[in-house]
Amino acid sequence: MAIDPNAFMATMVRRVQLTDADKAALTEAAAWGKEIAPAMAEIFYDYLGRDEEMNTILNAVEGRVHRLRQTFVDWFAEMFTGMDNWGKSYAERRWKIGLIHVRVGIGPQHVVPAMAVVVNAVRQKLRQDSKSEALGDALGKICMIDLAFIEQAYFEVSSQAVLQETGWTQALFQRLIATGAASM
Ligand code: HEM
Repeated sequence: MAIDPNAFMATMVRRVQLTDADKAALTEAAAWGKEIAPAMAEIFYDYLGRDEEMNTILNAVEGRVHRLRQTFVDWFAEMFTGMDNWGKSYAERRWKIGLIHVRVGIGPQHVVPAMAVVVNAVRQKLRQDSKSEALGDALGKICMIDLAFIEQAYFEVSSQAVLQETGWTQALFQRLIATGAASM
């Protein structure tokens, strides 16, 4: 494991500024989150299915879409409950979700717009159901934390693979990245 998911979670909570008030708003709305999760999954997989490349990934394995609908529902509901108050279990679960996406070849170009779809769908539903702006803000923050886990997993797996294969040090790798970026 390249990073400590729990430490990463703590850093993200601080940087995204997920406060105790945000956590309270989420847990208070946990029943609502569970209720709307299947509709959110519907919107999400409908969106992925309309993109040729993502649709191919989704249908590459028999029964995958069906299973994913349920895992999405669980994922969505967990944002509200925080599992263990957004602690170790939450962090390890998010890290695992990140690694699974890396394994199936899903990168930032897929995940970032997909999370935007989730955020927009939730915003619409919040308005329809006359939910507070505070809840919307809290949801926006936790979605960004979850997104950061998937993005970080992509970076960690890629860099660990290069380091293992080449035996380079972290410092040399960073220098090569900086040089490469400068020449682009
Ligand atoms: C908002 C971003 C996303 C969220 C929250 C999300 C959520 C999840 C969850 C919870 C899992 C299950 C992990 C497990 O089995 O433990 C999963 C797996 C997966 N997701 Fe996503 N996902 C996102 C973006 C995407 C995108 C953009 C694609 C593109 C096609 C995708 C395709 C997949 C695939 C193929 C798997 C693995 C299925 C398997 O194990 O057969 N996901 N995702």
